[in-house]
Amino acid sequence: EQSTKFRQKLVKWHTSENKRELPWKEEKNVYRIWLSEIILQQTRAEQGWKYYERFTAAYPTITDLANAPLEEVYKYWEGLGYYNRCRNLHHTAQYIAFELNGKFPDSFDAILQLKGVGPYTAAAIASFGFGLPHAVVDGNVFRVLSRVFGIETAVDSTAGKKQFQQLANDCLDVKNPAAYNQAIMDFGATVCKPDLPDCKNCSMQSFCIAYNQQRVNELPVKEKK
Ligand code: ADE
Repeated sequence: EQSTKFRQKLVKWHTSENKRELPWKEEKNVYRIWLSEIILQQTRAEQGWKYYERFTAAYPTITDLANAPLEEVYKYWEGLGYYNRCRNLHHTAQYIAFELNGKFPDSFDAILQLKGVGPYTAAAIASFGFGLPHAVVDGNVFRVLSRVFGIETAVDSTAGKKQFQQLANDCLDVKNPAAYNQAIMDFGATVCKPDLPDCKNCSMQSFCIAYNQQRVNELPVKEKK
């Protein structure tokens, strides 16, 4: 089946060919995972990197962040924009440090309840932090899946969102959701890119429907421009 093959090829690519180095890779500390995912919500990894390192140096634990004055936290955030992200970050740090005794919520639903955390970020934290089987779904994932599976349903339509969510769940490696999610993020960012995807060197080439039908540049389909 195509989804089984895709999962196997993707994880194999991740372990043998993925050269992308990021400071939060293999991170086990859920506070640091959460922090990286909040930074990465509207910021590219290459730009977010130095912010992540400064933040974790200034605030090694969630309690350090919770105890810092908001004005100081803003200074470490300066340049990232979307300052409500920073306010939510501080608010959530205080909630976890003071109301939950520093224990980070460990279920998908509880993580999703946190201020500033949507379904994508919750899936990332749940999988990276706790090994829970939740697939990340975003523009990267839409692009990769629409091409490999040759899907023309508009990704921003109601039917499309449902179809891609279901496909993403089918593809997820439930035995290793963290590696799978990191793999699809990196594959979309470095190989199956929006413009000039690296099809020539892609290990999915032989079974990528878009490639084999010469439709790579037509996918993903969007309703709205
Ligand atoms: N974007 C969001 N989360 C990410 C991660 N963990 N690695 C790379 N890019 C990301």
